[in-house]
Amino acid sequence: MSLAVTGATGNLGGLVIDHLIERGTPADQVVALVRDVAKAADLVERGVEVRTFDYDRPATSALAGVDSLLLVSGTDLGRRQAQHRAVIDAAAAAGVGRVVYTSAPHAEASINPVAPDHKATEEYLAASGLGHVNLRNGWYHENFLGDLAAARQTGQVLTAAGHGRVASASRSDLADAAAVVLAGSETDRTYKLTGDEAWRFDDLAADLAEVLHREVVAAHVSPAEKSEALEGMGLDAGLVGFLVGVDEAIAAGELGDTSGELAGLIGRPTSPIIDTLRTVQG
Ligand SMILES: NC(=O)c1ccc[n+]([C@@H]2O[C@H](COP(=O)([O-])OP(=O)(O)OC[C@H]3O[C@@H](n4cnc5c(N)ncnc54)[C@H](OP(=O)(O)O)[C@@H]3O)[C@@H](O)[C@H]2O)c1
Repeated sequence: MSLAVTGATGNLGGLVIDHLIERGTPADQVVALVRDVAKAADLVERGVEVRTFDYDRPATSALAGVDSLLLVSGTDLGRRQAQHRAVIDAAAAAGVGRVVYTSAPHAEASINPVAPDHKATEEYLAASGLGHVNLRNGWYHENFLGDLAAARQTGQVLTAAGHGRVASASRSDLADAAAVVLAGSETDRTYKLTGDEAWRFDDLAADLAEVLHREVVAAHVSPAEKSEALEGMGLDAGLVGFLVGVDEAIAAGELGDTSGELAGLIGRPTSPIIDTLRTVQG
């Protein structure tokens, strides 16, 4: 059995490999697909096979003998639909048995700026004829570490998400779930992977206050006011639109539903966001 992970030198992909090995997959049955082998020395040392793999020109030969492939969604927002299609084509040409794809909440119909790429990839995967599983990963706890840094300075968490909830989860829990699914044999399924708890920004402010030992409040502003504030901090227009778009998706309730499927896959309750905040603060 050969299990391959793309983006293996990234945060999620690296954790997936850690969890695969912790859960008993022999290191020599894991293939790390990376675009820069120089970044993968630790994986080589641990006995993982490292192969060069670039989403822009994915070599079919790099997928030889792979039974299940985890396609970690790319980071290049303008190009990743085409990149994902190229990877899926290469997997089909190489005879890969199944593809597990990291998607996003409500990918099929969402105002979240990340959703269109994930919708397109899920559809392409479904049409490919390959066995596949979509992992609709909820928002990472780690996405809110920037709020911790800001709150330390200002005592505020700036949000245009209103009282929308976020059922975020740690990258490590999501990676563990991906490891479980990749090592299994299930196909034609879409998981909604969320944290067990759905918090509001007032709750996040309370957690930050506890961790930072200072007063922290959620500063509730409109999307236009948040855009203006972020532009004032020097962020470029694309990033501002992205961040405010995510807040609007949260306000619309798109990131707040809890499914229990993540805890079910990993066999334990999901870790709460305060644990992630504490790890960094400590
Ligand atoms: N659910 C969420 O809250 C959330 C948040 C952020 C991102 N995401 C999505 O989840 C994915 C994984 O998250 P992460 O935290 O692991 O991100 P990350 O640390 O930035 O890792 C992304 C990985 O993708 C690889 N990659 C990017 N473009 C590539 C290309 N053209 N060819 C080959 N590999 C390529 C990167 O390679 P290098 O190591 O060489 O850079 C890296 O290993 C992200 O890429 C993004 O699509 C989800």
